[in-house]
Amino acid sequence: MKLSYKVILTYVCLLLFGIQCGGYKILAVFPIPAGSHKILGNGVVNHLLNAGHEVTYITPFPENKTVPNLRYIPVIDNIGHINDALINIKKLMNRDIEMDQEIVFNMMMNLTQNTLKNNNVSKLLNDPTENFDLVIAQWTFNEVFSGVAAAFNCPYIWFFPYEPSFVSLGLIDEATNPAYTANIEMRDIPPFTFWQRFKVLKFQISKIWRNYFYHRHIENEVFDNTFKPISRRKNKTLPPYEELRLNASLIFGNYHVSMGQAIRLPQNYIPIGGQHIDEVVPALPKDLKKIMDEATNGVIYFSMGSNLKSKDLPDSIKQALLKIFNDLNQTIIWKFEEPIPNLPKNVHILKWAPQLSILSHPNCILLISHGGLLSMNEAIHFGVPLISIPVFYDHLYNADKSVSRGIGVKVDLTDNLADDLKLAIHEMLNNPMYRERMKEASFIYHHRLAPPGKVLVHWVEHVIATRGALHLRSPALLIPWYQKMYLDLALLLFVGLVLISWILRKLYYFKSQYKVKAKLL
Ligand SMILES: *[C@@H]1O[C@H](CO)[C@@H](O)[C@H](O)[C@H]1NC(C)=O
Ligand SMILES: *[C@@H]1O[C@H](CO)[C@@H](O)[C@H](O)[C@H]1NC(C)=O
Repeated sequence: MKLSYKVILTYVCLLLFGIQCGGYKILAVFPIPAGSHKILGNGVVNHLLNAGHEVTYITPFPENKTVPNLRYIPVIDNIGHINDALINIKKLMNRDIEMDQEIVFNMMMNLTQNTLKNNNVSKLLNDPTENFDLVIAQWTFNEVFSGVAAAFNCPYIWFFPYEPSFVSLGLIDEATNPAYTANIEMRDIPPFTFWQRFKVLKFQISKIWRNYFYHRHIENEVFDNTFKPISRRKNKTLPPYEELRLNASLIFGNYHVSMGQAIRLPQNYIPIGGQHIDEVVPALPKDLKKIMDEATNGVIYFSMGSNLKSKDLPDSIKQALLKIFNDLNQTIIWKFEEPIPNLPKNVHILKWAPQLSILSHPNCILLISHGGLLSMNEAIHFGVPLISIPVFYDHLYNADKSVSRGIGVKVDLTDNLADDLKLAIHEMLNNPMYRERMKEASFIYHHRLAPPGKVLVHWVEHVIATRGALHLRSPALLIPWYQKMYLDLALLLFVGLVLISWILRKLYYFKSQYKVKAKLL
């Protein structure tokens, strides 16, 4: 940890007065029990600690060391709450990836409830002596954690692990226009055909509809059951869920334009993609460094991420992959969770791999991954082109996006994986376009005014210092959707036209009646 003057000041204060000063008190809520979410949460927390703030961290992954200014609130039993069907590769093979929305909603709602019911969390929420300047909560497919901010009477910030979408932007501004905005839960990349445009619109409307009519009351109930008693005990009134869920000061998005679409963003959407990557990457372990230094034909690094395990692949595919690797002149480093007998000479398996250090080595020429956003982010950071084998949620979108940008190739997770992967590897090794495009993306990614960690700390301090940054709130939140679309004006014009045409018709009728009468006389 860097010893900034703020940290020193904090220690001096603590020593002299036994009180906290200099830093803010921040509650970070990152309850999702998955490796990539842990990495993102730890990144946020570390930046805040380094800036001299005091962090209370709700996480399923507390560490066994004491860090000054850091207090863990462990929610270890969240770890059982990710559906096994989502982390076993074998069960995910040959499957349609576009996810069942209800499964995701229910799983995340359970996780939210489980977090709030946890004894450690409950004790924290109910303790009248606890107070915070800010809550940063990971979005869990519902907005129930906005209640945590109400419990401590402080502003809150959402952390979104994904690219901005109509869902996240709808919380601080308004939904994106489906005619030209790709959706991370679907695969189509704009420019859309007529049918794709229709499909995205249908998806967006049905999701908003379902959230409004089927999910909102479930969330509301959990919100009331959890936070009403807390507010009562603290002699406060709880704002309605409908109001509080749209009251975030900011959204931090794990996004940067080099990683995704150029989406129009409101003032209080702050992209901090890449914040989890330290400016100084840890050195490689000695043996691994030797392997990579000696790989004169380059290293291909293969990892299915922190949740999925390569060992769960069917045996036939594992054998076929080894054969393909054996025929390559490159060195393969494979994150693989158990020993493999008769390993080819150029293949090295690692139970746990220091991914950043491997990608940062100049000999690393290709990443094969599951298309997770973090892997893609890290590949762009270090300028290593990639092959994606998408598995679930946003992977398919990430993979298709990398293909459309010429920085990667996609391979489907089917029984034909090995043959498809062989073709993809040869394409990537023989066509220099991927490397060049990836270098460009990497330049755009790094060419920012400030590194994402600094941006994060700046906005956290800004929100606290301005008591919730109300000046950044979008006026779009204040008016109903029909006014945004000028449907009231359209209605008025329509009624006016009908009225005018009615009057004209009446006039014509009178005139012709008059003419008829005149003729008869
Ligand atoms: C919304 O947030 C602001 C700033 O944090 C706060 O002053 C206000 O009370 C909040 N409104 C509700 C309904 O909680
Ligand atoms: C490996 O290297 C040898 C000798 O340089 C070359 O003949 C062969 O084509 C290479 N194999 C592949 C798969 O690139």
